[in-house]
Amino acid sequence: MFADRLETRPFARAMLGSFAELVRGAGNVRVGDVGCGPGHLTAMLGDLGLDAVGFDLSAAMVGHARRANPSLGFVEASMEALPVEDGVFGGVLAHYSMIHTPPAELPAVLAEQVRVLAPGGLLLASFFATDAADPIRFDHKVTPAYSWPVDAFAELVSDAGLIPFARLVHDPASERGFLDAHLMARLS
Ligand SMILES: C[S@@+](CC[C@H](N)C(=O)[O-])C[C@H]1O[C@@H](n2cnc3c(N)ncnc32)[C@H](O)[C@@H]1O
Repeated sequence: MFADRLETRPFARAMLGSFAELVRGAGNVRVGDVGCGPGHLTAMLGDLGLDAVGFDLSAAMVGHARRANPSLGFVEASMEALPVEDGVFGGVLAHYSMIHTPPAELPAVLAEQVRVLAPGGLLLASFFATDAADPIRFDHKVTPAYSWPVDAFAELVSDAGLIPFARLVHDPASERGFLDAHLMARLS
């Protein structure tokens, strides 16, 4: 369902490319793709010169990712407890993987991403966005999901200890009517 390589999503592709370039420039090319699903973006990160490992809660997704990308590492793990030491990653990608996280639980997920980032490490988070004042819960193909006011999402990222420095918000490719948002932040 999700295994395209962003061929029809030029804005997401541009942000992923910028993320990879900035991570490479900072020197630590180890990155975690959290909530990697079938691993297509983990593979893209590899093609972009990064040493990427994928994490997903779903054993089926991890199995699919391993079969599709046998040379890459995929680990069955929760985003709330990544099985890696503190500060190992130069970057964390969370591409529509926090969309299912209830708002009250998002700070803990972001805290875990901060824990695994090295100083100067980057987070790229992509999510559904809304102009509404508060997060909106909606039915998603798999399980309920949330769209976020971008400022509110950025504030949580900031509260977690990261410095948001780039955002790209655009009309969606989907019929759902939510915006697509891509937010990049740096650990100082
Ligand atoms: C909408 S898919 C996105 C997959 C991939 N990142 C992409 O952009 O195509 C959301 C993924 O996040 C995973 N996920 C959701 N909650 C998670 C959690 N708490 N820990 C780890 N993975 C999670 C799901 O299993 C699913 O594969």
